[in-house]
Amino acid sequence: MNLILLGPPGAGKGTQAKRLMDRFGIAQISTGDMLRAEVAAGSPIGREAKAVMESGALVSDDIIIRMLGARIDRPDCAKGFILDGFPRTVPQAVALDALLAEKRLKLDAVIELAVDDAALVERISGRFTCKSCGAGYHDKFQPTRVPGVCDACGGTEFIRRPDDNAATVAARLEAYHRQTAPIIPHYRAQGRFFTVDGMASIDAVSAEIAGVLDRL
Ligand code: AP5
Repeated sequence: MNLILLGPPGAGKGTQAKRLMDRFGIAQISTGDMLRAEVAAGSPIGREAKAVMESGALVSDDIIIRMLGARIDRPDCAKGFILDGFPRTVPQAVALDALLAEKRLKLDAVIELAVDDAALVERISGRFTCKSCGAGYHDKFQPTRVPGVCDACGGTEFIRRPDDNAATVAARLEAYHRQTAPIIPHYRAQGRFFTVDGMASIDAVSAEIAGVLDRL
């Protein structure tokens, strides 16, 4: 099964992608995570992407499309994948169509998580991640069961993203509305486009996505 999760920064794409990965045994492909790994490694891509990401703008289509093409060929994608944070521009969506056609793959669903802009700053500013295993949490909406201890691996060190601050979030939202939202008509025209209520609780969003997938 091949899916796209679409939505503004903080909509819950990563949270839901991890649940789908566990449920279906398919790969989560987060272009944001891939870029952060490049930045951490100090690679040429990472050096180019770092300042762009910290400003809240989008990294160039060329870099992203090249990275994505190589990622889909990896063995963990054999049973399918969830694209989280890609495509984010019309040229990326067009490039994905070509890539899938070349590999004789099809998209099963494009699922939009609809969330009001006003809720996103609170979601993003409360987000933190386990440094050891990458499990995601939120100060208010998804705290660890034991304060300061990761539920998944018992780690005690957590990190917050440098682009998770109010000024950058405003720029990321602006980029979403101006550059990413225009891909919605592209996928509506292809059919298999679904919108779920991303304002609901994490479990309720998962249930609504499961309902969409069960009906496919
Ligand atoms: P990326 O890493 O993709 O960030 P993003 O799209 O801004 O999305 P986020 O990761 O912030 O949010 P999310 O929707 O995954 O929400 P999450 O599940 O964590 O991109 C970062 C940057 O990289 C971009 O700005 C750009 O520069 C670059 N980039 C990446 N891809 C690119 C591309 N294709 N082209 C060009 N540039 C690219 O949830 C957020 C928080 O809310 C969590 O704490 C969670 O616990 C909580 N939460 C989740 N769901 C709910 C809920 N239903 N109710 C309450 N709380 C919830």
